[in-house]
Amino acid sequence: RLPVPFRVPLSIPPLARPLRRDNKRKIDFYSMTMKAARVQILPDGPKTYIFGYDGITPGPTIREKRGRRCVVRQINRLPKTHPYLGYECTTSVHLHGSDSLPQYDGWAEDVIRPGQYKDYRYPDDQDARPLWYHDHAIHHTAQNAYMGCAALYTTHDELEASLPVPKGYGRYEIPLVIQDKIFAQNGNFIYDDDGENSLYGDVILVNGRPWPTMKVERRKYRLRFLNASVSRGFHLALDSGEPFTVVGHDGGFAPEPTEVTSFRLGMAERYGVIVDFARHKIGDQIVLRNLGLPNNQDFANTDVIMRFDVVSNATSTAGNSVPDRLNPSTGRHNPMRLRESDAARTRKWVFERKNGLWTINGRTWDSQRSDADVPHDDVEIWELENRSGGWFHPIHLHLVDFKILDRNGGPPFAYERGPKDVAYVGEGETVRVIARFGPTRGKYMMHCHNLVHEDHDMMTHFDVGATGR
Ligand code: C2O
Ligand code: CU
Repeated sequence: RLPVPFRVPLSIPPLARPLRRDNKRKIDFYSMTMKAARVQILPDGPKTYIFGYDGITPGPTIREKRGRRCVVRQINRLPKTHPYLGYECTTSVHLHGSDSLPQYDGWAEDVIRPGQYKDYRYPDDQDARPLWYHDHAIHHTAQNAYMGCAALYTTHDELEASLPVPKGYGRYEIPLVIQDKIFAQNGNFIYDDDGENSLYGDVILVNGRPWPTMKVERRKYRLRFLNASVSRGFHLALDSGEPFTVVGHDGGFAPEPTEVTSFRLGMAERYGVIVDFARHKIGDQIVLRNLGLPNNQDFANTDVIMRFDVVSNATSTAGNSVPDRLNPSTGRHNPMRLRESDAARTRKWVFERKNGLWTINGRTWDSQRSDADVPHDDVEIWELENRSGGWFHPIHLHLVDFKILDRNGGPPFAYERGPKDVAYVGEGETVRVIARFGPTRGKYMMHCHNLVHEDHDMMTHFDVGATGR
């Protein structure tokens, strides 16, 4: 009864339409309604009850130009309580990857109750990047995001426009949002977090469709991956053995492209890769595989993600190259030029399971307690140590982009040499990252992006500028 791989076509999340664009003030206004809906996910099965921004999942993609600003009204029309999970459906919307002011950053306790709304303001002042907005409500982030409250938000700038890389949303620039799910007989999602540890589904969705296929031309494509799963990491490779050319990261374009044959994609990580299907002939089929990760629970078909079917020669050769240099990384908050000697100090963070709780430096979430008062605009090194045995933790810092300095004292993986906001801290690993803490001031969260860990309660916050500087 479970769906089987490669039976349905890939779909692309629709673009959100602004209510209004104020070109004088350069502000775009959107309105979104979070609501429940029944959608056809299982091709031959019953419909699935979801939560979604505007009732779809992934929600509408917001596409914005750098230098404009954006206001998104988020209206919570979810039921008061979840019909089968029983919790109160409060929400908080976080734009992951944005240097938003703290009051618009989706602080976990700043919730919107059913029937209420909130206007979120976004600056869109950073390097072009793949952001995403998703739920962040205290203790129910995992359920709300799993039910479908997750969507893309991409920003675009002159650097991107000047690069001859594949472009055109849904044409040669392809967003791929990967998630795992568990389905009940009645078509609904089963939420089973294994007693507050992790949730591993046996069905893989890409852009909300099970193991889809995508028709491709014999040319280059830019695939923009996001892992929006609750707990499952992926280790992606193509069954043809050909490389991915990594060009982009969480925080935008890398200084230069890197070829790899596989890469790990932890929850909330984004990678932009270029794949050249011109190496193939018409009729070839290339499977995107998941090589698996230690301690993830695998099922019959969780080793495959989707398939690319080569159907024709290129109908356009625009944006069909990979330049040797991508991003000069000169922005003040681009971390790629930071060196260890720029850091004012190092902070140490230990992630572990303690007394049955997911902790950071031995503590759990307390909205009243800042665990790091960072002087505004200081550069710091944060050392992230995973001491919890058989678990990996994708650690996300709000507000900043960081550079990975090293991994267990050795160099970062080749595919990680770009601006990031999530660090995959694998079993027993220690990762050091460096960032400039700004441009804004205030309280920002840091947490594990295994959403079950985040909810129970592997989350803390830091305060930029609290020292008076
Ligand atoms: Cu993607 Cu604090 O979240
Ligand atoms: Cu974790």
